[in-house]
Parts: sequence; structure tokens; C-alpha cells
Amino acid sequence: MTDSTKDRVVIFDTTLRDGEQSPGATMTHDEKLEIAELLDDMGVDIIEAGFPIASEGDFSAVSEIAKRSKNSVICGLARAQLPDIDRCWEAVKHAAQPRIHTFIGTSPLHRAIPNLTQDEMADRIHETVSHARNLCDNVQWSPMDATRTEWDYLARVCEIAIKAGATTINIPDTVGYTAPRESADLIRRLIAEVPGGTDVVWATHCHNDLGMATANSLAAVEAGARQIECTINGLGERAGNTALEEVVMALKVRGDIMPFDTGIDTRKIMHISRRVATVSGFAVQFNKAIVGKNAFAHESGIHQDGMLKNAETFEIMRPEDVGLAGTSLPLGKHSGRAALRAKLRDLGVDVGDNQLKDIFVRFKELADRKKEVFDEDILALVTAATEDAADRLQIVSLRVICGTGGPAEAVLEMEVDGKELTATCEGDGPVDATFKAIRAVHPNMAKLQLYQVNAVTEGTDAQATVSVRLEEDGMIATGQSANTDTVVASAKAYVNALNRLLVRRDKAGPGADAREVSYKDVS
Ligand code: KIV
Ligand code: ZN
Repeated sequence: MTDSTKDRVVIFDTTLRDGEQSPGATMTHDEKLEIAELLDDMGVDIIEAGFPIASEGDFSAVSEIAKRSKNSVICGLARAQLPDIDRCWEAVKHAAQPRIHTFIGTSPLHRAIPNLTQDEMADRIHETVSHARNLCDNVQWSPMDATRTEWDYLARVCEIAIKAGATTINIPDTVGYTAPRESADLIRRLIAEVPGGTDVVWATHCHNDLGMATANSLAAVEAGARQIECTINGLGERAGNTALEEVVMALKVRGDIMPFDTGIDTRKIMHISRRVATVSGFAVQFNKAIVGKNAFAHESGIHQDGMLKNAETFEIMRPEDVGLAGTSLPLGKHSGRAALRAKLRDLGVDVGDNQLKDIFVRFKELADRKKEVFDEDILALVTAATEDAADRLQIVSLRVICGTGGPAEAVLEMEVDGKELTATCEGDGPVDATFKAIRAVHPNMAKLQLYQVNAVTEGTDAQATVSVRLEEDGMIATGQSANTDTVVASAKAYVNALNRLLVRRDKAGPGADAREVSYKDVS
């Protein structure tokens, strides 16, 4: 609901571009389309869908997202080069509302990479922004590493970009170096002093290297920025970006001191957070604001007494506001399909009849094994049901013998490209034996970089979420799975990561790794 007394702040989500740039956070084509649909559905104003020149895969994902977008503006990233901008336009032009985002590193360190003088770079900015504007009415320009760029030069290049037709000027804190007061002062000064500064939208794009990204973004908004660039779960290179859920909820909860509206349906936050964690392979830390497992943990434990007397004692927002139906009863094995559908609706998850059928079957299986099925379990089931059934590697069955008195043994049956294969392997524990069996069925050189187990809920019958990160020939892929059986979840997560490596390898083709074109090599 929009409050007419508040100013509107535009939410620009870059999970699919800056977020996907984090090493290991590869998403498949279908996963990108799914996340884009969820972002569009939750009310994100602008979706930065990818970097079209980077690879065929990025190009086709951006084009397809552009074709399917309903309400959001669809934006693509382009370096300050004409072929980049043309390629970007080719991808975003299918959208009802396309945007080209072009950028160049303007700080002394970044100017040194293409070895351009200040004047040469200024000319390049004029040329590339004008070119973009001739193709598209909606052009965003970013001086990368703006917060380490000399003030005079920054003001000069912003003016050039505005004169060349940019409609949004984004001020990136590329290395997460600024602090709230400085972030606010910079935006205030740019708006006031750059000629034409009041005719464009100013955006803030903050990285989280010092843990100040959200504070810096909000300070910029208070100083006049009207577009916040962010990602779901704060996904992004190094320490990540400003988290969408943090800025949106901060503006919602503290509207008294920051009277700004976003168009976000906050009830969709938890579901999209879970989906991004799953498809990117980046699990959300337990104590992460808003979306962490413990963010509403005051509902149990030592605060319970106060909570029962008055929820506001320890709550500044309700779990329901972010899509966790905290107060409703958990489902059990006698719950029917209607109860499941109602619960999904409470959790902000819209599913079609076929998907509901599939989730219901999984729910019944789980309810047979587990006394109470909590919201987190349901969200994990939705994730499992959305996983790609067309994977080349599929586990058919797994039996593991383990305990004292000898090595563990795994007996595995798998389908590899439709062919059934089996292997029996011993190992140092059940997970080691299982992973060896998977490698016996599908020999590969992938190195295990990360193996992580978390419990979705409490209790010995809780589902375990397992993340596995693999690396092969410089390509990284992460897989995730949840199951009440930790070994089964581990096997599925491992196979999931292998499937993603296969997709990446197919997509990249010979010598065409998507990461070959990085936003840092601006030449
Ligand atoms: O952090 C950064 O500078 C970026 C730019 C490409 C906008 O992501
Ligand atoms: Zn960035």
C-alpha cells in the first residue's frame, strides 16, 4: 500500500547480475527466469537481469526475462564500449520497459586499467552514453568506484553523462569503502552541484566490505537518492551488496524517521530468499537480519514469556510481514491439501494445481517421518519440488551401512543420461562412502570446496539442508538439498552440484567461459 505522504524509492534488484557474479553463485537459465518472475511478482521496479555481452547464456537469459516481464523494467549491463551496448540493447529491447545500464571505472585506480587520461575517459563517456540513449529512452550510467573518485572529476563526468542523455545516475561504492555520513554528503552535493542534477534520478549501489552497505544506502536515500540497488540476501562479490530485504523492511518499520515507500510486497520476502539461497548455493547465515533462521527466534526460548504477554515486547516486525506465518499452527500428517494451499498462501508462495499436487505428495511423505511440519519445512519442500526434473544425473536409490566396527558402505543406483548404473563403495563414514559411489558412477575431476550441513528446524527429526560446492577447471558450481536423512540430502546436494557443472560446461562451450568477460576489464 502506497502512502501519499511518503516519497517513493525505486528498488533496483541486481541479484541476477551483481549477485550472480559471486564466485560459485551460478544459476541455470531456468533458475534465472524463475527468480526474475518472483522479483517481478514481489514488486521490484527494475530487474538487472544480466550482462548480455558476457556469454550466450547471459544474453539468452536477459532476452527471455525481457520477453516475460510483467511490471518490472528490465535492465542489462554494458561496459563503456559500443558493441557491449548494442548487445545489451538486443537483449533488453524485448521488454515492455527496457533499460540500458552502462558504466566505466572513474577512480584513479580504475582509470589506470584501460590507461585513459581524464579527458579521454570523458570523451568515451559522452560517446557511449549518447549511443545508448539513441537506442533506448531509459539509460542508467555508473561511474564505477565513485566513492574513490576525485570530487571534481566525478562531478564533471556525471554532468557529461546527464548531458549525453542518462536518465539515472548511479553512484557505486564498488569496494564498500564509504560510511553513512560520507555517503549522504556525496549524494547531496552531487544533486545540488552537478548541472542538470535535479533532472535525473540518483541511485545508490553499495557493497558490504565493512558491513555498512545497508546503512550507506539508507543514508543516501535520506540525502536525496531515489533508487536503491540491492540483491536478495545481499548476494554479491566478496561481502556482498545491500540486501533488498534489509532496506525494504528498514523503510517499512522506521517510516517514522525515514518516510519513504517502496512498492515491495514484503510477504514474498522469505520465499524468494529461500529460493535464491538454494539456486545460488549461498546459504543464509542464521543471524542474518530479516531472513536468517534466528531472525524471529525470540518466538521460542527465553523471550517466550514476554512474547506471550505482548508480542511487541521483543518484536519490531511481525514474522507474517516477511512471509513467515509465525503464529499459526504447524501442519501435521492429517492436514489436507486445502490446509497446505492456505499455508503456502500465508507464506507468500503462489503455486499452480500441478505443483501443489507435487508439493502435497512430498508433504505427506515428510509428515509420515516428522511429527510437525513447520513453515521452514514447507519452504524447503517448495524448493525441492521446483528443482529441475530434467537433470542429467539422478539418484534412483541409496542404501548406506555405517556405525562402529568397520568402514561405512554405500550402495548407490543412479540414472546418468537415462542409463541406470550402480556402484558399491566403502568410505570413511557414510558421506564419504556415498560421495565415492557417486564418483564411481560418474567419474569426474571436480574438487569438493565446501560441504556444509544445517538443520532446517529443531529436533532429531529435523530436515537437514546440505550445501556442496565443487570446482572443476576453474568453474565453480554449488548444489543444495534438504531431507530428514542427512546422507540422502548430502548425496542429492552433491549430484545437484555436478548437474550444474554439466550445465555450465555445456553453456560455456569451448573457450567461452561466462567469466571471461568481467566488468573489471574495461578496455
Ligand atoms: O559495484 C559496482 O561498481 C558495480 C557497477 C557495475 C555498477 O556493480
Ligand atoms: Zn556492484
